Amino acid sequence: MTTEAPKDYATDYDVLDPNYIKNPFPVWDQLRDKCPIAHTGRWGGSWMPTTYADLFAIAQDWKHFSSMDVLVVPPQLQAGSAYLNEEGEFQGDFPGVAAPPITSDPPEHTWARKMLLPPFTAKSVARFEELTREHCRHLLDAIIAKGTGEADAAVDYAQQIPPFVIATMLGVPTNMTADFTQWVRKFLELGPFNPEGAVEARTNILTFVWGQIQDRRQNPKDDLLSYLVQQKVDGQPVPDTHILGTSFLLIVAGIDTTWSSIGSALWHLAQHPEDRKRIINEPEIINSAVEELIRAYSPVTMARLVLDNVEVDGAKMCPGEKVLMNFPAGNRDPAVFEHPDEVILDRAKNPHIAFGVGIHRCAGSNLARMEMKVAIQEWLARIPDYSLAGASDETTWAGGQVRGPRTLPVVFPQ
Ligand code: HEM
Repeated sequence: MTTEAPKDYATDYDVLDPNYIKNPFPVWDQLRDKCPIAHTGRWGGSWMPTTYADLFAIAQDWKHFSSMDVLVVPPQLQAGSAYLNEEGEFQGDFPGVAAPPITSDPPEHTWARKMLLPPFTAKSVARFEELTREHCRHLLDAIIAKGTGEADAAVDYAQQIPPFVIATMLGVPTNMTADFTQWVRKFLELGPFNPEGAVEARTNILTFVWGQIQDRRQNPKDDLLSYLVQQKVDGQPVPDTHILGTSFLLIVAGIDTTWSSIGSALWHLAQHPEDRKRIINEPEIINSAVEELIRAYSPVTMARLVLDNVEVDGAKMCPGEKVLMNFPAGNRDPAVFEHPDEVILDRAKNPHIAFGVGIHRCAGSNLARMEMKVAIQEWLARIPDYSLAGASDETTWAGGQVRGPRTLPVVFPQ
């Protein structure tokens, strides 16, 4: 790994370069014209497609591109020993626990996904909308009560919403949300820079979830964890390691992604009063506005492992190589989206792939959309007029697997 800025993005991109994270859009435009599949030796080496068509095709081709290793920059997990102690608690760093269905290929993927979908239908998720609204209102009460006309829209607001909602759905104490947030950040965002911290965070999540799973076996409730432990595959109970991995995924996938999307939306709206006015004055456009903001500021890049020699758009890929599924770049491709760098809140045709495409398409998209809609509506109802704080933009961004603002200071009239 080198820390020098890339001289040529086509052959030496660095997904964790702070300048790239802050403004990757011109780089993707350049690469689409030049490559369009870039390569780098950094962070273990990878390919990076940048056109919608290539991303779409690779995402469909699970026979050549496995999901066994989906982390963009995986922390160097040491294979330790795992065992159950006398109390039936997992010890060690949980080798063998993956994150199905996102880390599964067919045939496991087929039943693992099917089992997960019912609690995430639009109807199931709607049960949590009012509670999400109330939570957003409490957060805004606290922001406004400070009386300073200042807030960190990422830390005080966006970051506080998804952990609360997923904790409620899973049926675990909502006062765990600060721990969830810290663990998920240490695992995903900071993992490449601090592998030991990532291993520890993963162990913390798994240890916590394992305790909860044991409890639900004894005392089933009306919650998502109880639903998971009651599932069967081929008439047999689903193995513990599988349920543990899926619960881990729900915490990781449910938190970082959605808070990044809410944060990016608020960052955009802070700088575009005309878009704020439209959402306020034309409430009926909220659903297309959410889709457009997700498209323009897509947060998630996933990885694939090449299984066989395969050529895509001139790139000759070999078994064992990694491909970064840069869905965000696909969503700015002018071949598919007119004026891709403009946010058009009522964009008529918006076949974005921010939630992926193919067999792994996001299982939580209804939940993510609901949280985004509610978060934006409630913010604008209380803080219709606001802008970025400071003379210049003081926003800081995380990138790599999930791109989004991590600090977002804003000011608003009292
Ligand atoms: C704006 C927010 C979100 C975005 C942009 C997003 C994006 C994605 C993407 C791109 C994938 C495809 C992965 C791949 O192809 O390898 C995915 C899969 C997945 N997401 Fe999301 N996600 C979001 C929110 C959520 C939430 C809130 C949950 C649930 C708590 C969730 C659960 C999942 C699951 C379970 C999968 C795996 C599906 C499978 O492998 O079949 N996501 N997500």
